[in-house]
Amino acid sequence: MNDLETLSQKLLQTRKYRALHLPPETIRDLIEQESRRYSDPRAIEASVRKKLHQLTALYLGDPDYEAALQEVRQLTTRNELEAFARRMLTCHTSTRERLPNLANFYTKLFAIAGTPQRILDLACGLNPFALPMLDLPPDIDYQAYDIHLPRVNLLNAFFKQCGFSAAHAEQRDILVDPPTQSAEVAFFFKEAHRMEQRQKGSNRRLWEALRVEYLLVSLPGSDIGKTHDMHERMRHLVDQTVQGYAWQIEEVECGDELVFCIHKGLQE
Ligand SMILES: C[S@@+](CC[C@H](N)C(=O)[O-])C[C@H]1O[C@@H](n2cnc3c(N)ncnc32)[C@H](O)[C@@H]1O
Repeated sequence: MNDLETLSQKLLQTRKYRALHLPPETIRDLIEQESRRYSDPRAIEASVRKKLHQLTALYLGDPDYEAALQEVRQLTTRNELEAFARRMLTCHTSTRERLPNLANFYTKLFAIAGTPQRILDLACGLNPFALPMLDLPPDIDYQAYDIHLPRVNLLNAFFKQCGFSAAHAEQRDILVDPPTQSAEVAFFFKEAHRMEQRQKGSNRRLWEALRVEYLLVSLPGSDIGKTHDMHERMRHLVDQTVQGYAWQIEEVECGDELVFCIHKGLQE
């Protein structure tokens, strides 16, 4: 086993990350990237650990996945499933903050992008638990991606229990392996700023690769402690990322979330 593989195994087995079953390609990508920046193995490991901490963002909150998986399989009625979904949405900071404005949030976005038939939810976290509240048909084509395997498994059990026949969650690192399916709309909520920290320029490569008519990128209006305004910094991130492209951008604000509705045009 070479040094990179040894470090990769070591990190995947740490207590903090073991239960997440992260994709090995994510760790490999981080190690390769940091090996280009540092030559000292200790500096490489320290930097990879810092990036992993940022991209997994475990401090934002989680349900007990095992218990939730058992519970969701017992639910049958629409009311029970919706109550469960709302509880799941409160477990993570991003979805908890969106919850009071949920209907308004999606009404505003679909007023711009149209009501989609095919949706990608990139770095989805727990956001797909909003699906029963979106007033979309049960055969909506909804493809969700995250690196966190217990999240992905719970989402798939939930879709099945709700009868969303064409909804699916997949464990995938969207930077290493961007989705190739075409769709009218991609949600990319509250993650682009962390991706840019993982690797400068990574958003540009991802946004270019996506075959979607509308890319809906949301970013926080303030920091986690709600003490610093982030509007200008987030606008700058988006401006830099789309530089040179003639994509139309409409900005929508909902609660503390800024959404950049990027019209890439037809991508069949
Ligand atoms: C801050 S949460 C946002 C969740 C969701 N988009 C929302 O706003 O409700 C970020 C999520 O992105 C996932 N993630 C981070 N990097 C990723 C990557 N490269 N590919 C796929 N998922 C990723 C994390 O596991 C986490 O669930």
